Amino acid sequence: QLTPTPADKFTFGLWTVGWQGRDPFGDATRPALDPVETVEKLAALGAYGVTFHDDDLVPFGSSDAEREAIVKRFRAALESTGLKVPMATTNLFTHPVFKDGAFTANDRDVRRYALRKTIRNIDLAVELGATVYVAWGGREGAEHGASKDVRVALDRLKEAFDLLGDYVTEQGYDLRFAIEPKPNEPRGDILLPTIGHALAFIDRLERPELVGLNPEVGHEQMAGLNFPHGIAQALWSGKLFHIDLNGQSGIKYDQDFRFGAGDLRQAFWLVDLLESSDYEGPRHFDFKPPRTEDFDGVWESAAGNMRNYLLLKERALAFRADAEVQDALRAARLDQLAQPTAADGLAGLLADRAAFEEFDVTAAAERGMAFERLDQLAIEHLLGAR
Ligand code: GCO
Ligand code: MN
Ligand code: MN
Ligand code: MN
Repeated sequence: QLTPTPADKFTFGLWTVGWQGRDPFGDATRPALDPVETVEKLAALGAYGVTFHDDDLVPFGSSDAEREAIVKRFRAALESTGLKVPMATTNLFTHPVFKDGAFTANDRDVRRYALRKTIRNIDLAVELGATVYVAWGGREGAEHGASKDVRVALDRLKEAFDLLGDYVTEQGYDLRFAIEPKPNEPRGDILLPTIGHALAFIDRLERPELVGLNPEVGHEQMAGLNFPHGIAQALWSGKLFHIDLNGQSGIKYDQDFRFGAGDLRQAFWLVDLLESSDYEGPRHFDFKPPRTEDFDGVWESAAGNMRNYLLLKERALAFRADAEVQDALRAARLDQLAQPTAADGLAGLLADRAAFEEFDVTAAAERGMAFERLDQLAIEHLLGAR
């Protein structure tokens, strides 16, 4: 089944297809997109939902009356197409007021403004049905050494999430937060640079149950990390609340290619992992159609994300269903990995002479692991050769 339907839960940010192609060296190559047109196009392509930053939908500085009219029109488009809004987020990075960050800006008044801007959009997000609120701290970082006391900045970041947690609890909202780690860009170094840093931070919050992760493929890969491994640990920690799918080629600037058009092997293992996990949330594409494209290229690119996901899902399911793969998994002793190391307890382990005194270290060292055959079978499936 390679035609996307809402059951696949594919979602897109307004800012993705709506990216005008402005980069640090060049001007926009495309005009702005009307959010209502985006909703209609995405629905026609088979998407499930759409997401937004406050300012993607309601331009910064709009009056209350303008805001109301925009939201009304957007809501009508959602109703007529059936598209959902499962997630929303705040733009705390574009306006110059956020040049030194938002929740961790050195200026206290900027921090208070950032919290109020966020809370205002949380109300709208909940009104539109969102249950996840993403927090990407793009400007929470530094280029200089002494300019940011990182331990104190983390106190302020914790304070922000604790206050937001109080707010949604007091309002009785069914809304959880998803922190999006990124190592750098636009700041030289960003706080909570990886999945691991963010997981450790969440444990220190007053309401850790309300906060999880929104990892992005390219962001972990910009740090040279293995994205499927990061997602596996997020799942293991019960913290995969949302996910940003896209493509990236190695350690360089944030490329935001369409999903599949980066490290294809990692994309394959990621889909294999997600499809065999209990993650039931959206498959959210956070990509940027390259600035070489006109609008035909933009929609081609949007559709490519979904098709690549479905192709990889088909390939991953074929891999898992292949009897030779199942033999190869046994030969690689995945079944042994799944057994507890000492179901007999510490006493049993200490009393077991076969575990140490009589253990044949040489024989164990000589056993091959048979991983190459297993991996070759994966590549054969990925390339459509099986
Ligand atoms: C980036 C980020 C953003 C965030 C989005 C949510 O450009 O590096 O991925 O796209 O996901 O802004 O706040
Ligand atoms: Mn990115
Ligand atoms: Mn991005
Ligand atoms: Mn993202």
